[in-house]
Amino acid sequence: MKNNILPFVTKLKIDPEKLPKHIAIIMDGNRRWAVKNGLPVNEGHKAGADNLQNIVNYCRDIGIKNITVYALSTENWRKRSAQEVKGIFNLLIHIVKTKRLEYQKSGIRFFVLGNFQAFPLKVKHAIKKILNTVLDNERIKFNVALNYGGRDEIVNAIQNIIKDEIKPSEVNEELVSKYLYTTGQPDPDLIIRPGGEFRLSNFLLWQMSYAELFFTDILWPDFTPKELEKAIYWYQQRDRRMGR
Ligand code: FPP
Repeated sequence: MKNNILPFVTKLKIDPEKLPKHIAIIMDGNRRWAVKNGLPVNEGHKAGADNLQNIVNYCRDIGIKNITVYALSTENWRKRSAQEVKGIFNLLIHIVKTKRLEYQKSGIRFFVLGNFQAFPLKVKHAIKKILNTVLDNERIKFNVALNYGGRDEIVNAIQNIIKDEIKPSEVNEELVSKYLYTTGQPDPDLIIRPGGEFRLSNFLLWQMSYAELFFTDILWPDFTPKELEKAIYWYQQRDRRMGR
């Protein structure tokens, strides 16, 4: 692997053999970042969306195979102002439209975790188009949690297990995992929450069983690849006994 695609890694001595397979991030602090910089709320989300592109590219380049970001919870979708939700939808449409071919070429495969069927038509169309984009050379799975809640995901899985008439004796952890939005993907090894809060806010409740949890006060738009590199370095120092 060339050093020019690992600009920070070489300095901090991240071990390329011990990378987390799956990193999940609660992108918190956009509004506080906007206030701190004297800007409207939606500018905070825009800065967050710009940072997200850098983070996804960085993860792809160093060899992370799965990244999940919490963009809109079931609660955000219900409780935030219509104007703020519209701003987030516009950012999503913008990302999907302007980045689709770049993602395709550079091996970023886009997934949605959550129920986006209730979204406005033009948002749904944009999402469906990127979900149907075929990649020749997939390097990273990029999951965006939208209208997502961990409890809602588990309820949805139970409903589908019942609909499929699965016998109780056939229901085990492996089967439940297959019915989650993350089906076929490994559980996150590292969950990161910027923005200063110490909670998981209904994020990946089933999948987080053995994840290492990294919290930082840095607000999401300032959580650059350099900060992510520190989090990965911290992760690599953890003794992951996994119940042993
Ligand atoms: C949490 O910070 C952030 C959100 C609810 C929205 C996250 C959205 C983006 C990063 C941009 C859009 C990205 C996509 C993929 C559509 P907050 O608003 O709760 O900030 P606060 O904690 O400072 O109030």
